[in-house]
Amino acid sequence: MKSKIKKIGVMTSGGDSPGMNAAIRSVVRACAFYEIECLGIYRGYEGLIEGDFKEMTARSVKGIINKGGTILKSARSKEFRTVEGRKKAHEQATAAGMDALVVIGGDGSFTGAMIFSEEFGFPVMGIPGTIDNDIFGTSSTLGFDTALNTVVECIDKIRDTASSHNRLFFVEVMGRDVGHIALNAGVGAGAEEILIPEENLGKERLVESLKRSRQSGKSSSIVVVAEGDKTGDSVFDLKDYVEQTLPEYEVRVSVLGHMQRGGSPSCYDRVLASRMGVKAVESLLEGKSNFMVGIRDNAMQLCPLDQAVKGKSKIDMDLLRVSDIMTT
Ligand code: F6P
Repeated sequence: MKSKIKKIGVMTSGGDSPGMNAAIRSVVRACAFYEIECLGIYRGYEGLIEGDFKEMTARSVKGIINKGGTILKSARSKEFRTVEGRKKAHEQATAAGMDALVVIGGDGSFTGAMIFSEEFGFPVMGIPGTIDNDIFGTSSTLGFDTALNTVVECIDKIRDTASSHNRLFFVEVMGRDVGHIALNAGVGAGAEEILIPEENLGKERLVESLKRSRQSGKSSSIVVVAEGDKTGDSVFDLKDYVEQTLPEYEVRVSVLGHMQRGGSPSCYDRVLASRMGVKAVESLLEGKSNFMVGIRDNAMQLCPLDQAVKGKSKIDMDLLRVSDIMTT
């Protein structure tokens, strides 16, 4: 049966991530392929409320697959959390002839999309765009792979100076309240210790492990600390604690911060974005709504939004076991 959908809106929302532009490109190109109009919505839900739209054609998205960030900008909207705000958004969407919405973002953005869809019967589809990789229903979120490569490159550079000065470095990475970036990049960069919020083995165990590293002949060490880790009050608190208990160590801290959110997306993220954008548009045209497009066992799979927003992706316990072995 021919779909009633004639015009799809696409937005990016929440913290940006590399690969969002590739996903925008894919949604726009898939619309063009199926002869559906596409509206770009600037600044997420803020722009939806304000009617800040732009017609998007296949040519509008040329030359962006390799660009970090998002040409549609992103924002977090307080007003959209109100019924009045969502009503304005719905009026703007219908006035512009929009029949469906693709939201590229994280769990907060999907919660808004789900409520909006339920309140107005408006078809929505989510594409997981966040470096945190913390969304249930997909083994990879857009930007996670690129962020890992960025972090590993940074830690490799830090290791050069750490080993030149026989120093211990605490490197704090993003991930909000999950440890996927820390664990994967820590293993990839050969960190001596990895501290994640999913396990808290305490400061004393950390000190014992550092002592063992020292005794095994390691003259410098890298400890990767997820920003949500609770071993210490902060990465600086850990530094002070180690300096007091292991005076032979010279300790420094490096907080990688927002550079993890930028950069040209990896090939993996570009391909993932291209697959997800097509799946999102085709699912809407098949009459589906209120799902997130995820990748599981390397296949595009739909996950109901109410499950995607409730769950958090679990830490890979086998990788945690491998990381323990690697730090022998
Ligand atoms: O969710 C992505 C993320 O980069 C988190 O890892 C981090 O804690 C947060 O966004 C930072 O938010 P903001 O960009 O608003 O400072």
